Amino acid sequence: MDTVRTTTLRRMKAEARKIPVLTAYDAAFARLLSAAGVPVLLVGDSLGMVVQGRDSTLPVTLDDMAYHSAAVARGAGGAMVIADLPFGSYNDPRQGLASSVALMQAGAQMVKLEGGNEQVLAVIDALSAYGIPVCAHLGLLPQSVHKAGGYRVQGREAAQADQIRAAAQAVQQAGAEMLVLECVPSALAGDISATLSIPVIGIGAGPDCDGQVLVVYDMLGLTPGPLPRFCKDFMVGNGSLHAAVAAYVAAVSDGSFPAAEHGYA
Ligand code: KIV
Repeated sequence: MDTVRTTTLRRMKAEARKIPVLTAYDAAFARLLSAAGVPVLLVGDSLGMVVQGRDSTLPVTLDDMAYHSAAVARGAGGAMVIADLPFGSYNDPRQGLASSVALMQAGAQMVKLEGGNEQVLAVIDALSAYGIPVCAHLGLLPQSVHKAGGYRVQGREAAQADQIRAAAQAVQQAGAEMLVLECVPSALAGDISATLSIPVIGIGAGPDCDGQVLVVYDMLGLTPGPLPRFCKDFMVGNGSLHAAVAAYVAAVSDGSFPAAEHGYA
């Protein structure tokens, strides 16, 4: 695959080509996903739950993220590697910058952080000024799970929807290159995607975002228990890991996944 850059992602949005994204945590999966055509690999702090077996992302450390980002970068080929800034690693611009430098030096090409309040906007602004591409993350914020009172759909009430809309504009204005919207009503996500100039990647955000991200273990049927409604097991009907990932890329690209049934009202 040709090297994927921020300009590639903006072009894909401008040309209305959907952007398939999957999480990756090691070199073997990075190689598999890149070979199957996934242009963007997210080293998500979800690794705390799916790799380390914890019950939230909060215990994940910057060292954990740097270790897994370096492994993914070694296998990524031309795919872009985005690394999550873990909980507590971007409390102010100075700390956010130091943490991001560690992840970029480990091999990431973009960092992702959660939230859109004044404090987070100041971090995005500083990183952007320093030349570090930022992916913002709004809607359900796993690092704030205890404040939110659980993993719930966000933005169903008008006031909260307006807050998410305003935060989406603000993160773009602060310099974010991309936005992940997690577990928000499909109509709200479609509206935000149509309004922003940066690519909007959904997870539990319906069919009208500019791209889609899933946790790779979920879409390969490796996660025990029932899948959340926004997920689909692509191993069903596909005979190999490569075929399953290629089917995901094809389904996101042709708009058949996610379908309306995978979103929230
Ligand atoms: O950590 C992660 O994997 C994520 C995705 C679910 C968007 O943030």
